[in-house]
Amino acid sequence: MPSSSDEPTARQSWIAERRDAAVATFTAKIPGIYKASIELEPAVTAWAAGRSDCPSLFLTGPIGVGKTHSAWQATRQWVHTQFGADYRGTPVVEIYRSTALFDALRPDAHDNSGRALVKHLQRVDLLFIDDLAAARPSAWTQERLFEIFDERYINRRPVIITCDVLPSALNEVVGERVRSRLAEMCRGGVVLLQGADRRRGAAA
Ligand SMILES: Nc1ncnc2c1ncn2[C@@H]1O[C@H](COP(=O)(O)OP(=O)(O)OP(=O)(O)O)[C@@H](O)[C@H]1O
Ligand SMILES: [Mg+2]
Repeated sequence: MPSSSDEPTARQSWIAERRDAAVATFTAKIPGIYKASIELEPAVTAWAAGRSDCPSLFLTGPIGVGKTHSAWQATRQWVHTQFGADYRGTPVVEIYRSTALFDALRPDAHDNSGRALVKHLQRVDLLFIDDLAAARPSAWTQERLFEIFDERYINRRPVIITCDVLPSALNEVVGERVRSRLAEMCRGGVVLLQGADRRRGAAA
């Protein structure tokens, strides 16, 4: 029989309840095709479990190799991990496709919502941007990206990025200053997924 010291304390049970609720809330947001658990690259699993030296993760590789699916599942595990010994409250995660993010940051966004979004994305616990090189932001939008990334950079707040090019090739997309910060934020956290386009396999 387990001794009483094996039983969770009231605080541990309270944290476990919050963890399960947070993971369920996040899981409900995962788009249908990315809901299935998949085998993740060991470096991705290590990041999600808080065992990577690098707080951020940059998933790169060719089209259809599984970057976005890996990122959703890694983020789900990351949420779970945040409820460990150094629990500091339910983490806030924001997820954007780059195209939607660049649209939301445009200067013609009404009612100052772009400004509020910059402030919010500077502070969230994890910012996941999918397919970063999929769109070309204007110079104005690059400035807003700089504000987001610079604040996250100086406070060591993590990002998870999927992208079909390496951080070093992102100058034209995000601008030199964001590229430079991203390179440092993701040093040791760049994972190259290799293989065939899985969408072709599905159609065969
Ligand atoms: N490890 C895996 N096992 C099984 N299916 C997978 C795995 N990884 C991804 N898939 C499936 O392969 C397809 C492509 O995956 P995904 O969209 O993540 O690719 P991607 O690398 O992000 O592509 P793109 O560069 O076009 O954005 C999806 O249907 C996804 O569910
Ligand atoms: Mg993708």
